[in-house]
Amino acid sequence: NPQRQDARIIVGLFYETEARKVFCEVYKEKLYGKKYVWFLIGWYADNWFKIKDPSINCTVEQMTEAVEGHVTTEIVMLNPETVRGASNLTSQEFLNQLMSKLGGKNPEETGGFQEAPLAYDAVWALALALNKTVGPLKAKGRRLEDFNYNNRDITAEIYRALNTSSFEGVSGHVVFDAQGSRMAWTLIEQLQ
Ligand SMILES: *[C@@H]1O[C@H](CO)[C@@H](O)[C@H](O)[C@H]1NC(C)=O
Ligand SMILES: *[C@@H]1O[C@H](CO)[C@@H](O)[C@H](O)[C@H]1NC(C)=O
Ligand SMILES: *[C@@H]1O[C@H](CO)[C@@H](O)[C@H](O)[C@H]1NC(C)=O
Ligand SMILES: *[C@@H]1O[C@H](CO)[C@@H](O)[C@H](O)[C@H]1NC(C)=O
Repeated sequence: NPQRQDARIIVGLFYETEARKVFCEVYKEKLYGKKYVWFLIGWYADNWFKIKDPSINCTVEQMTEAVEGHVTTEIVMLNPETVRGASNLTSQEFLNQLMSKLGGKNPEETGGFQEAPLAYDAVWALALALNKTVGPLKAKGRRLEDFNYNNRDITAEIYRALNTSSFEGVSGHVVFDAQGSRMAWTLIEQLQ
């Protein structure tokens, strides 16, 4: 209960359906307006708070009032630049190919559509890393085909290759930090 703690900055991590329930309550409890900053972490459809939902009884107007001013962040999942990277596809060409494979299905109702560029680049990262190990392994008299889960030499080469990934993907520039997390641009938005 944020009210009892006199919280003013509230960070929420919910799925979209929960977010609607939360903001309906936010409206009823008057936990919105200039005194509060809501910071949402999650990937929501556009206008998620206007979507008809039988589990809440707030009107679209009430929901719109409650979500006003909230802040969200999300990682940029589609390269905003028109460049041909490792795959020789621009991000727009990638989307066009994906759309044609969907065969007329609505992307907004297709789970994973938004994240697809990340998955596509992940496969490229792996393919490029494997390719990059071929030379160093050869120098040690080994081959990728000799891989097994007990062989540390080959694992270390694959790890090193992935850790030093750096290429232009359909999701943006692909690099990993020392912990192996993807480093990407973050988009910060405030609803007004
Ligand atoms: C929503 O439901 C509650 C309890 O079920 C009721 O008290 C309230 O009047 C309803 N609000 C609206 C806007 O329908
Ligand atoms: C990359 O794609 C462009 C446009 O489809 C094409 O003209 C070009 O030949 C491709 N390059 C390679 C190396 O495949
Ligand atoms: C794969 O590795 C070879 C060298 O072993 C290199 O010449 C080639 O460019 C690499 N391919 C890609 C797509 O990076
Ligand atoms: C992976 O790369 C990062 C950045 O280049 C480096 O700091 C880190 O030590 C590397 N990790 C390993 C295990 O090689």
